[in-house]
Amino acid sequence: MKKRIGILTSGGDTPGMNAGIRAVVMAADAAGFSVMGIRKGYAGLIEGRIERIKTEDVDGIVGKGGTILKTARCPEFKTEEGRQKALQVLRAFDISGLVVIGGDGSFAGARILSHLGIPTIGIPGTIDNDLAYTDYTIGFDTAVNCVIEEMSKIRDTMDSHERVGVIEVMGNKCGDIALYSGLTGGAEHIIIPEVEFDLDYICDRILAARIKGKMTSIVLIAEGAGKGESVANYMREKAGLDAKAIVLGYLQRGGAPSESDRLRATRMGIRAVDLLSRGIGNRVVGVRDRYVIDEDIDEALSKEIIFPKELYQEFLIMSENKR
Ligand code: ADP
Ligand code: F6P
Repeated sequence: MKKRIGILTSGGDTPGMNAGIRAVVMAADAAGFSVMGIRKGYAGLIEGRIERIKTEDVDGIVGKGGTILKTARCPEFKTEEGRQKALQVLRAFDISGLVVIGGDGSFAGARILSHLGIPTIGIPGTIDNDLAYTDYTIGFDTAVNCVIEEMSKIRDTMDSHERVGVIEVMGNKCGDIALYSGLTGGAEHIIIPEVEFDLDYICDRILAARIKGKMTSIVLIAEGAGKGESVANYMREKAGLDAKAIVLGYLQRGGAPSESDRLRATRMGIRAVDLLSRGIGNRVVGVRDRYVIDEDIDEALSKEIIFPKELYQEFLIMSENKR
């Protein structure tokens, strides 16, 4: 294989993407490969927005949020014509191996490119943690840390007014951000898509807690389970609770990556280059337990997410303890 690797970031940005880019560039340099940075994901690939990215370009970016390569969602890449254009561009730039940092959508694109003959490696970059083959995706840990920090500030003001704070968090169809943040940040209730919920029951529990003197509750709702505003409205109208909805939104996707995200991104970036340098493509990199792993992309994408029931049970114990 020729000694030129391409790299792009795609889908929603995540803290830690830059740490991944840095690792790929530095590991490639160490292995004698040059790296071409493709701007704005598959859109930039189709448009040929590509330039050499050197180690000096990644100096000091390990702790920087966002992605220096920018990102995009590109419907054109889902068409045969778009993909053929992308292929021509890759050939024109002599890129014979590609690293894609993104979520499951971006991986679907990576799989297609691999099948079209460009060895491609996926690095999981999404705050949603919704890829079954890996314990963690890059950005998830930082997003959870953001939620628990904001939650604590919201609790201060909810406490002063004896209100219920209904905090809507991201995660697409996955409840992991709400579940992990609820467990570690001390939410009284969580509403996630994986578990059926009963708003009347939650209202009853909040009212019962108030009778015993606990006047404030935090309810975390994952966006995949519904809207925070509707839940707060329901609580006000049906239970007379002074409930306020807060949508955390893009706060969860910005800011400096946590140590865990930097570490995982760095280690996965190094593994991606190791695979490409051996001419291996069509794989995704991840972490299981504390090990960096890689797996066939078709197998990885066909796996179903297993809901972490034990974490949910632990959340129930911890939220029970508060009453
Ligand atoms: P994420 O990678 O975070 O899941 P998206 O689902 O928005 O984000 O996907 C990012 C991009 O990946 C899309 O805009 C598109 O260019 C590409 N993509 C998504 N799904 C496919 C698919 N089935 N085939 C080819 N490309 C895809
Ligand atoms: O996939 C990451 C994510 O932040 C989801 O949690 C959220 O549903 C979505 O992206 C938001 O996308 P956009 O950046 O298009 O608003």
